[in-house]
Amino acid sequence: MSLESSEPNRPYGPEPGHPLEPSPGMFPSEAGNGPVPSWFLGVFMVAVFWTGAYLFTYSGGFDSSVFDFKPKYGAAASGPAVPPDPKEVGRKLFSANCITCHQANGQGVAGQFPPLAGSEWVNSDATNRLIGIVLKGLQGPVQVKGQAYNNAMQAWEAQYTDQQFAAILTYIRSDWGNNAPPIPAEAVKQMREQLKDRKEQWTMAELLKMPAQDVAKNAAAPPAAGQAPAPAGNAPAPQTK
Ligand code: HEC
Repeated sequence: MSLESSEPNRPYGPEPGHPLEPSPGMFPSEAGNGPVPSWFLGVFMVAVFWTGAYLFTYSGGFDSSVFDFKPKYGAAASGPAVPPDPKEVGRKLFSANCITCHQANGQGVAGQFPPLAGSEWVNSDATNRLIGIVLKGLQGPVQVKGQAYNNAMQAWEAQYTDQQFAAILTYIRSDWGNNAPPIPAEAVKQMREQLKDRKEQWTMAELLKMPAQDVAKNAAAPPAAGQAPAPAGNAPAPQTK
């Protein structure tokens, strides 16, 4: 071989066709050791990110109960969804607020807070007055079960929705020996509308001037007796104007 190669720019190394020239497939393991293709890295990172995002969203905090096929809490998974019992909802709301004065046994506190158990205001068919009392509050002299009280109760209208009032009133009309029909949310809605311009608490004298009306019965009329009360807020309010 002369010094003057016929291919002066050819890189150093065995000549083409020389036995030392690596031919394709000569070192099969080389493919595995090469750098990872960047497209694969890209796909891999996306996959890792997606997995992380998926777990973050759906892991449920890895709480063991989350993946239970038989839920331990709440209504049974099968069968029609059972709406919560208004009396139970009402009892909870009562316990959160009314209980401090009217007491868990509904007896109130002698001389200060009148009883709800056996109260003629609570069990009366004049449900417009009862709803009015809790919406707007009550002050001044009042007679309950033959006892005189002269105190004040605030308005509750801003604290509760129609459904919550319905639950509370339905509850206080059904516990401690009370046995008066439930108060539907529609009736509360109707009274809220009717009394929307009133700002002051009631006095007993004013309440007695309000014509007694069973708004609960009127509102409850559409669903047949014995049927579960319709989900509150769906039925149009019976207009009494
Ligand atoms: C801070 C004490 C207090 C709280 C809390 C309270 N009340 Fe009263 N409530 C009174 C007082 C006092 C009267 C009587 C007012 C008067 O003397 O004029 C009264 C009167 C009533 C009456 C009419 C009289 C009777 O005994 O039947 C009803 C019904 C009633 N409250 C229901 C409720 C409900 C429902 C709640 C909860 C949402 C509630 N109260 C929370 C103090 C309270």
